[in-house]
Amino acid sequence: MIILAIETSCDETAISIVKAEGDLENLDFQLLGSVINSQIKIHEVYGGVFPTLAKREHIKNLPIVYKQTIEEARIKENEIDVVVVTTGPGLEPALWTGINFAKELGEKMKKEVLGVNHMLGHIASVLLTKKTEIDFPALALLVSGGHTELIVLKNWGDKEKIGETKDDAAGEAFDKVARMLGLSYPGGPQVSAIAEEARKNDVKISSLKFPRPMMHTDDFDFSFSGLKTAVLYYIKSLGDKNDDKTKMTIAREFEDAVIDVLIHKTKKAIDRYAPQTLVVGGGVIANKRLREEITNLNKTYPQIKILIPEKNLTTDNATMIAIAGYIEYLKNKEKIVEKELEADGNLEL
Ligand code: KG4
Ligand code: ZN
Repeated sequence: MIILAIETSCDETAISIVKAEGDLENLDFQLLGSVINSQIKIHEVYGGVFPTLAKREHIKNLPIVYKQTIEEARIKENEIDVVVVTTGPGLEPALWTGINFAKELGEKMKKEVLGVNHMLGHIASVLLTKKTEIDFPALALLVSGGHTELIVLKNWGDKEKIGETKDDAAGEAFDKVARMLGLSYPGGPQVSAIAEEARKNDVKISSLKFPRPMMHTDDFDFSFSGLKTAVLYYIKSLGDKNDDKTKMTIAREFEDAVIDVLIHKTKKAIDRYAPQTLVVGGGVIANKRLREEITNLNKTYPQIKILIPEKNLTTDNATMIAIAGYIEYLKNKEKIVEKELEADGNLEL
């Protein structure tokens, strides 16, 4: 079937068209078209996403992005079988724009409209790669700008969140530290780039060690706010001695601290839940060092299948929403209930 997916939960207006086949044990996806209009430049001046501005931009961009995606996919509107849309979690004013657009399309095309959870999308993002299957039970580590969580999936219908951040999300910490270092929004890629530079040139201050909050607690939760504050105090203590080399070192040690905690808690969850597959997803998974460390887990756990999404599917996109939408469709197709779609900023998996 041909799926049209819409994603507007944050600052990306994204639409994808995906051909989906197979059943839940044998999924097969082919990407036909995908267009993302990013509002980064608009929100940059605020150092974060401004919800009402995001809403205005989505409303403006949706018809344009829709037309571009249809053209790229080289299909006719009437070939689309189902419309799927992110209903949460995310910024509610932004989510509503996608939902309303999806409803209008559904009515016009006389096709069903299905709501999809954005975080299920981040999990599903690993499935675009040919012949990739998730063997259950699976453990998912999701790290984005709004979320940091560990989820155990017994199957597609049975998901349990075993841990989450108590304060800032990992991506949020990257963005805030970037701001402290004078780098622009979204800071993750920039902090990561200068940390990489520091590693390449072996630039470090041996006495500099930031805390790894909650790393050794007896649960699967995270906390990044204390780490962020430690970075802030350190920068303040430097006064005007904060040169480029020092910034690189701070970025390196901060990134190491975040990754140490993420890897440590993931290992702990693997030891406890013995999953067959580890799936990772979310914007922070674009981080080169984190990708390497996740891949390295294979040395400790050779029996586990480790699935990492393609880099362009880590940050928000509608392709992952199409894939998650197909999974939802297969799960519910016997008993699809026509229910009015609504945005839910805090929607749980
Ligand atoms: O999944 P995503 O696009 O949006 C949310 O659902 O939140 O994630 C965006 C987050 C931002 O905080 C951004 O700074 C972070 O992902 N990010 C990175 C990298 N690329 C994006 N963080 C660290 N390293 C990166 N290379
Ligand atoms: Zn996301």
